[in-house]
Amino acid sequence: MSAVATPSTTEYYDALKSRGSEIEARYRKSTPRSQAAFARAAQVFPGGYTRDAIIRGPHPTFVQDASGAIMRDLDGHALTDFWFNATSLALGHAHPAVVAALQAQIPKGTAYFAPTLNEVALAEVVLGRLPGAERIRFANSGSEAVMMAVRFARAFRAITRRAASTILKFEGSYHGSYDDVSWSVSPKVADAGTLDAPRPVAESAGLAGTEGRVVVLPFNDSATLRRYLDAHHDEIAAVLVEPMANRIGLVLPDASFLAEARALCDRFGIVLVFDEVISFRVGYNGVQGRMGIRPDLTSLGKIIGGGFAVGAVAGRADILDMSSPERNDRVTHAGTFNANPITSIAGRVTMEMLTPEAFEQINDLGDYARRGLAEAARGLPLQVTGAGSLFKVTATSRAVRNYRDAATTDKRWEALCSLALLNEGFVLTPTLSGCISLVTTRTHLDALLSAFKTVLAA
Ligand SMILES: Cc1ncc(COP(=O)(O)O)c(C=O)c1O
Repeated sequence: MSAVATPSTTEYYDALKSRGSEIEARYRKSTPRSQAAFARAAQVFPGGYTRDAIIRGPHPTFVQDASGAIMRDLDGHALTDFWFNATSLALGHAHPAVVAALQAQIPKGTAYFAPTLNEVALAEVVLGRLPGAERIRFANSGSEAVMMAVRFARAFRAITRRAASTILKFEGSYHGSYDDVSWSVSPKVADAGTLDAPRPVAESAGLAGTEGRVVVLPFNDSATLRRYLDAHHDEIAAVLVEPMANRIGLVLPDASFLAEARALCDRFGIVLVFDEVISFRVGYNGVQGRMGIRPDLTSLGKIIGGGFAVGAVAGRADILDMSSPERNDRVTHAGTFNANPITSIAGRVTMEMLTPEAFEQINDLGDYARRGLAEAARGLPLQVTGAGSLFKVTATSRAVRNYRDAATTDKRWEALCSLALLNEGFVLTPTLSGCISLVTTRTHLDALLSAFKTVLAA
């Protein structure tokens, strides 16, 4: 589907896009060392990258070091970070409390073939923030967390409904790189069927054999979810939902959508999984606390590792206890670096600093950022979305509630606006998503807002 394009919105986007080569030329000129580093990376990594999310044309900015809210690139620019390694660094870069705790631990060893009390302490802190969750298992990424949540859900459902192994996810939601959920993350609308009966579209090559393991429905559409589950509940093991959809535009669904998902899962004995890998930073108790809805399982990652590789699945004891060693039909779950002392310590120190007052601080700044951006974008074909400490500008004239709305976005406009902001020293994603961490100040945001206005006015 193309953008809902009145001639004036097209003209609006074209104005910035007509300056594309000038914006890119300025970036190239100011980042020769990043350009050279990228050429070197291209000798060893396919296309120069070993991680898709950081792809940015004409080349990514290579970072030399970082502290607080500021990253320094190879060319010596000080860049104000508004994405903090994909929202994961809630305290900013190299927070002194985290650094000190790790400096005390590293000489004592970084990983043992044995548990430590560090992982128990992190588990207690995280479970203390998830009122419905009684058990937790750690992993090394959000992708692994989702994969384990799916495995637990299928195992649990198999007890009552052996055929129920299909996962129900929502169009436009990204849940990491596990094959079974890598469907309809960013499909071409022309390939994706109708709005209320979307066709699952493979997000990657190499997924053959996993089709049919997932069903895709529109995000934020209670009636369609109800209709589907009324007819097909016997086939579904889990409803997997991102309670704030990142790739759709950091959009919170209506509370009634999550409530309906909860009610339907209760009615049919389906496992409700909230993927809060990102959205756990939206509040002290995540989006589930904010909306007052308890999922059966929650997948976590990002902030709970304090800057280190992490994932976790938390939830009901009767589901997660399926991995207890004494079970015959147990869910196996291993991982060489699961809950290693470095991740556990950094995660615990970080989570302890994220007090209710700290959330108030970053969420107030989030409100401030969204207000300022919306003011700058007033009357323009731009949407400002987000919640808590997360914000995004989307280049569409249409309010964004689901993937089909998000698919009307002018991605080239967003990427160029983001690159123009990078030229001014501000790091957002190429889709203009941003986040605030405890080290972000009003001064940082005022500078960003002023640069945004300059880019819009140019
Ligand atoms: C909602 C959600 N789930 C899962 C993942 C995967 O996490 P990871 O990149 O740690 O594998 C992400 C990553 O951005 C995510 O946003």
